[in-house]
Amino acid sequence: MIIARTYEELAVARAALGSTALVATMGALHPGHIALVDAAKRAGLTPVASIFVNPTQFGPKEDFSRYPRDEEGDIAKLRKAECALLWLPSMDEMYPSGNTTTVHVGGPSQHWEGTQRPGHFNGVATVVAKLLGQVKPDAAFFGEKDWQQVQVVRRMVADLHLPVRIISVPTVREEDGLAMSSRNRYLTPQERQAAPKLFAALKHAVQHLLAGKEPAATLHNTRHELAAAGMVPDYVALVHAETLEPLNVLAHPARLLAAVRFGHVRLLDNLPVG
Ligand code: PAF
Repeated sequence: MIIARTYEELAVARAALGSTALVATMGALHPGHIALVDAAKRAGLTPVASIFVNPTQFGPKEDFSRYPRDEEGDIAKLRKAECALLWLPSMDEMYPSGNTTTVHVGGPSQHWEGTQRPGHFNGVATVVAKLLGQVKPDAAFFGEKDWQQVQVVRRMVADLHLPVRIISVPTVREEDGLAMSSRNRYLTPQERQAAPKLFAALKHAVQHLLAGKEPAATLHNTRHELAAAGMVPDYVALVHAETLEPLNVLAHPARLLAAVRFGHVRLLDNLPVG
């Protein structure tokens, strides 16, 4: 695996590769990230991973400085996964002085994480646009655990006519159902044991919705189920899967989204409905 730390190194290495797929990450890699590399390979594309902990998508009170970092471990995992190229830009490479452009995506960025974390999706869209411009991949693979992020990136790519295919890959889960996330390591052992209750509550809700139960009552019960497990829901929402607009009645394509605060960690999860 070639490691590029400057744009010049990236451009030289990239020129020697054929059709590529970007797997953009903030490091602290887990099997969910490796599933993206594997999906790229299965699609016949050469995987190019990036690791950059992007400050502009963290709020002032969020965990940018304590976000987990493990460059050596990440490099070993990507090598094992046969990733062809790793782009490891510095802060200056990504946000050189004089840089003033921010990408703001409307539509799907407005609710849910967009409300809970003001400015978050501007940071995500800006850095993803930069990564796409730098790596120039044929496709980019994103995990469905961050469902709203995938829809925001899709909207940006469509609106800006960016020549890249966005491919989403199903959430990778622990054996007990907890969606894999770099932040799961901050759960205490007791919290870790209880954390799969989020997935379980979403599964119950999907069953009820598909059985014809009223969405408002179902979401209300789900919030109660989560609260009973010691979780503080930021939102539990039935939404249009692409626009992310709330749905009062079950219509397709629909997605159930939830974010809860649990101890010091925010857990996100989502499931398709039907
Ligand atoms: O999902 C992530 O890890 C980040 O939001 C991304 C897409 C790498 C942008 O910083």
